[in-house]
Amino acid sequence: MNFSRKNPTKTDSWKKLSEHYEQLKKVHLYDMFADNPDREIQMSVAFGDFFVDFSKNRWTSETVKLFSDLARELNLKESISLFFKENKLNFTENRAVLHTALRSSEDEIIVNGENIVPQIKSVNTKIQKFTQKIISGTQKGYTGKAFTDIVNVGIGGSSLGPKVVCNALKHYKNHLNTHYVSNIDGDELEEILQLVNPETTLFVIVSKSFTTSETLQNANSIKNWFLKQAPNSAVKQHFIAVSANSNKVNDFGIDSDNIFPMWDWVGGRFSLWSAVGISVALSIGYDNFRALLKGAEKVDRHFKLASFSENIPVLMAFTSVWYSNFFSTTQHAIIPYSYYLEDFVPYLKQSFMESNGKCVDRNGETITYKTGSVLFGGVGSNAQHAFMQLFHQGTSLISTDFIGFCNSLHGNNEHQDVLMANMFAQAKALAFGTKGKKVENPYKQFKGNSPSTTLLIKKLSPENLGALLAIYEHKIFVEGLLLNINSFDQFGVELGKELSRSYINSLKDSSYKESLGMQFYKNNK
Ligand code: F6P
Repeated sequence: MNFSRKNPTKTDSWKKLSEHYEQLKKVHLYDMFADNPDREIQMSVAFGDFFVDFSKNRWTSETVKLFSDLARELNLKESISLFFKENKLNFTENRAVLHTALRSSEDEIIVNGENIVPQIKSVNTKIQKFTQKIISGTQKGYTGKAFTDIVNVGIGGSSLGPKVVCNALKHYKNHLNTHYVSNIDGDELEEILQLVNPETTLFVIVSKSFTTSETLQNANSIKNWFLKQAPNSAVKQHFIAVSANSNKVNDFGIDSDNIFPMWDWVGGRFSLWSAVGISVALSIGYDNFRALLKGAEKVDRHFKLASFSENIPVLMAFTSVWYSNFFSTTQHAIIPYSYYLEDFVPYLKQSFMESNGKCVDRNGETITYKTGSVLFGGVGSNAQHAFMQLFHQGTSLISTDFIGFCNSLHGNNEHQDVLMANMFAQAKALAFGTKGKKVENPYKQFKGNSPSTTLLIKKLSPENLGALLAIYEHKIFVEGLLLNINSFDQFGVELGKELSRSYINSLKDSSYKESLGMQFYKNNK
């Protein structure tokens, strides 16, 4: 058995879904609820500390059944099993996709004839020992002072994953302050370097390939800045690297002892569970880092075992394909009602859009249906006062995920109630609008019928955050499988990188003026 390569639009189930859509497209959520008072009970899934309400989606149990048929036609169940074993899912790069192994408690996972579990365990032990020494202050900087700051230097998956977790779990942090430098923008670097003292700062250079130009240039500039005050011998104490390319790390001047390896079978945007998450382990301690992994593993189990109609990532992927390919909307919003999840949307933007923004299918054919959606959003209730007008009264359909927590981490229940009241109100206003009410003024009418899924979680803990991230990771996988694309390569980012390299040289040549924009730039810098 291998992953299906079927064009989903050529299946029987897709045809049935198209017919079903014709019957359902004009039905208002208001009427769906009026016709079936048990809709919420029937269309919600409880899992651990999670309660996920799918009832405000523009679908019925028949839609879920037809999507489950489609999933069966495309071998989803078997593909989920393969996803947790040796596979060549990323076939365009001839790589396995096995980030789930990083959080697995299984004793044996074979890749290329080798059991990878011992390697994972050994790197985890190295992370554990190292983070304990830095947090406790037993490992010190070159002047004998304990570390106070961590600077993670990396971009894309080598920054967004650890950054979202670190900031989301700020409540659990220790005395270390963690910063993330990603952009090549020198102003960003300068602002961060102004916050830290070289004597007490640990620099973590994170790059799977160790060839990413932004990361290497930032790392070199940081090293030069550091060496203005510290001796060469101090680099060993203050620079560590996370990479799959130890030769390049050595070339940069970081000792082999200071390399935390990662592997070919971990994709960048799915790498926070590996040593890429070392800044997280430093910030919240190794035990909390393990709890994050444990939460993700619980979702892995749910994903493997639950039937499609009870399977949270699978149902979320169904809604996604439903809206993009049948309702023809390519806009999906994520609105978490938590200050701590400020970085959640930027993180998901990479993971979804880099994964499923593809126009060639698994057979090399040009795709004629919709693949990835434009993902955007921001935290509530701020979002309500910023861009949600468009959801309520704009002319295009936007589907939304709301994410909320039953408890505030600081125990401010009064505010939490108001925050959550806002979240429930938004989901209701989007679903029902002013339908059924007499509103004379057309400017004050709300059309409703805007779909949403609500994820309610008891508390923002490391374990629950790990679970939440894994739910979205698996949603990407299912969506990619249903749409017959490879979600795990990212060739689309290469052309821009190549062109920027040729521009870098051209910008140094004062006589070279390719465009008016370049002339303006050169004349004004
Ligand atoms: O350019 C895209 C990308 O390859 C991402 O997929 C990845 O997360 C990021 O760059 C960083 O790559 P690396 O970890 O190799 O520096």
